[in-house]
Amino acid sequence: MKIDVEVKNVTKKFGEVIAVDNISFTVEKGQFFSLLGPSGCGKTTTLRMICGFETPTEGEIFIDGKPMTNVPPYKRPTNLVFQNLALFPHMNVYDNIAFGLRIKKVPEPEIQKRVKEMLELVRLPGYEKRKISQLSGGEKQRIAIVRALVNRPAVLLLDEPLGPLDLKLREEMVVELKRIKREVGTTFIYVTHDQGEALTMSDKIAVMNKGKIVQMGTPLEIYERPNSKFVADFIGGTNFFEGRYRDGVVEVDKLGKIIVAPGQRISKKTVLISVKPEKISIGKKLRKLDNVFDGKITESFYQGKSVTYKVLLENDSLLTVVAPTTGVEFIFKIGERVKIGWNKRDARVIE
Ligand SMILES: Nc1ncnc2c1ncn2[C@@H]1O[C@H](COP(=O)(O)OP(=O)(O)OP(=O)(O)O)[C@@H](O)[C@H]1O
Ligand SMILES: [Mg+2]
Repeated sequence: MKIDVEVKNVTKKFGEVIAVDNISFTVEKGQFFSLLGPSGCGKTTTLRMICGFETPTEGEIFIDGKPMTNVPPYKRPTNLVFQNLALFPHMNVYDNIAFGLRIKKVPEPEIQKRVKEMLELVRLPGYEKRKISQLSGGEKQRIAIVRALVNRPAVLLLDEPLGPLDLKLREEMVVELKRIKREVGTTFIYVTHDQGEALTMSDKIAVMNKGKIVQMGTPLEIYERPNSKFVADFIGGTNFFEGRYRDGVVEVDKLGKIIVAPGQRISKKTVLISVKPEKISIGKKLRKLDNVFDGKITESFYQGKSVTYKVLLENDSLLTVVAPTTGVEFIFKIGERVKIGWNKRDARVIE
């Protein structure tokens, strides 16, 4: 695989603020790479350095093997879809998409052809004359994306492009973006604070916190094998148990022994076990599970596809359990006593 973008030991300071703190990563050609992290962790700053709107305080960025330090934004093979879209409200759809091409003095017939292609790509053929104010939120989003794609950048940078959309539209746009990505083959660097989006779309995810990359890997690696409490928690609200590890068993105060899967490198004695809500079974009787505990339902939320329960355990910890509704004819009531449990391979030990 060819490397398209390399960020090497890059730090960005704004006065006293360290927005990005010595990060390194590489993005391969044609990859869908996501930067995922909470507000203020340095995602936008990283994108702005890649496309040249900010200069790193330290470190270097390479695109297609070439150092970018002295290359201005308009000479870089990148394009950015901004966090707040920034379509020109006084121009129609055609002029918005054509804008970048006109600056590059592309002949008008060629522009016409390319705008038409772009509108077909986002399934909005015939929208040329529409005003921006006559578009829905999702349509604006699509126009913003093709306005950045029409220049045929080697790398497209997207800064939370689905931010202002409602949940249903976001889900549709996620599917749409993946399709666009497949059709154009461009390298995508995608910024989001939404773990669901990052997991669904990415080939590779870098999780950021306070300016640093704290874990990098495929969506499956990040979700199933988080390397820290922060990642485990951020990527999908998980349950934690703290205890002392010895010979494949973690002893948790007032609860008892939790059997953990072998083969995890554990050196510390005090560890955290992370168990995702959807990996926990709940019932009146539970058989054939490695770990089973008694609990009491304190809350239940019916959500159609699943039920989310809060279960109080004997050590006073409150567990979140998400149970599918397949084959279920009732839901447990508040106050009801239940058993909860999971298999050792469905939990993760974090030091
Ligand atoms: N021009 C600037 N001057 C001073 N501080 C800045 C500047 N730009 C960003 N920062 C600070 O750098 C940090 C990282 O900001 P950045 O915009 O990269 O975060 P982000 O991860 O994109 O957050 P969000 O998800 O809210 O968009 C923040 O603490 C921010 O306040
Ligand atoms: Mg941002």
